[in-house]
Amino acid sequence: MIPMLGNLRRSPDRPAALASYARLAARYDRSCRWLDAARFEALELLAAREGETVIDVACGSGAMLPSLGRAVGSKGRVIGIEQCPEMAAIARERVALAGLKNVEIINAPAEDARPDVRADAILFCYAHDVLQSDEAVAQILRIARPGARVVAAGARLIGWWAAPVNLWKLWRSRHYLTTFRGLKDPASRLARRCPDWRVVDTRVLGTSYLAVGHLDPEGRR
Ligand SMILES: C[S@@+](CC[C@H](N)C(=O)[O-])C[C@H]1O[C@@H](n2cnc3c(N)ncnc32)[C@H](O)[C@@H]1O
Repeated sequence: MIPMLGNLRRSPDRPAALASYARLAARYDRSCRWLDAARFEALELLAAREGETVIDVACGSGAMLPSLGRAVGSKGRVIGIEQCPEMAAIARERVALAGLKNVEIINAPAEDARPDVRADAILFCYAHDVLQSDEAVAQILRIARPGARVVAAGARLIGWWAAPVNLWKLWRSRHYLTTFRGLKDPASRLARRCPDWRVVDTRVLGTSYLAVGHLDPEGRR
């Protein structure tokens, strides 16, 4: 197939994502080390506290899980949600190696995950496909407390004047997301639900963003 043609689809494609991450899983950590600075910043912004319940949506190979697990401590809980079995297996191994008992991984699509918790904080780190699904975002926010902190980090496109930069970004992202749809405003579904939603930082000429907000404290939608 012509490279990137599949990514022009109108919405995320689960079979395509599963196949892609099954292929990528073994080398994912090595190939995505460049995300570490953005991940660190996202963790700082999320500011998970002792005793809290945190959801890491589309946790992948679990890069954030040990830090989150340590931050919430033995009285807190971290739940990683990841649909790709190969990625979830690496995440489980990572958590076991870190000796953390308070971190659980649910191997299911975000649309179907039903953990029996009320989350204090939710992280979407490079989870573009999830953010483009009304169903997935609605389901995840349903398990959050009113007023919960929500942080998103990921790829985005900038203005038309930066066409070469945008093209480079699309090329670089092509295996990691199944639709380019929504890349101009990737977290719009979260912004609609968080009255104070704001982008706090950008990187790589604006093609990566970091944003934060809080769900309505009264639980209004
Ligand atoms: C770019 S990776 C990011 C992983 C991780 N958050 C990180 O920082 O490395 C995107 C992940 O989203 C997962 N994913 C895609 N769609 C999903 C969905 N609907 N539900 C759960 N996981 C999903 C993929 O399997 C993949 O592991």
